[in-house]
Amino acid sequence: AYEKLWLACSVLLILFLIGTVTYGAVGPGVAMVADSEQPIDAQNLDESERFADPGVEQVGENEYAAYVVARQFSFQPDPIVVPADSTVTFYVTSADVIHGFEVVGTNANTMVIPGEISTLTVETDEPQEYGLICNEYCGAAHHAMEGKVNVV
Ligand code: CUA
Repeated sequence: AYEKLWLACSVLLILFLIGTVTYGAVGPGVAMVADSEQPIDAQNLDESERFADPGVEQVGENEYAAYVVARQFSFQPDPIVVPADSTVTFYVTSADVIHGFEVVGTNANTMVIPGEISTLTVETDEPQEYGLICNEYCGAAHHAMEGKVNVV
């Protein structure tokens, strides 16, 4: 009977040690890699300075940065309002699954991946209203996932 008890204790101890080593090696390591590869945080959107409240901000004389979050089944903000005759860089991420970001009638088109940021720089000219659609199948209402890009 004592032999079985000792055996059980040994097994528990070994499992505990394996658990400790695994946690030490994988836990903090992954977090560090993610932080250094993503200067703008696309990992925790609710806590991200840029993506918690996505929108357009001026970053130069005629330059703007548009932060956009795609999620089932909309784009945020909607509409995305950007000035005419300017350079606009879109930073697009997803809150859930893979989406598409296609400004209808232009060549502005990119895939949007959760945890990553797709960037896309465009030159705007005349004021115009553009449709924005998702062109990657993302679920039941994929076909209804659309927004607007208003050049004003
Ligand atoms: Cu989002 Cu299809």
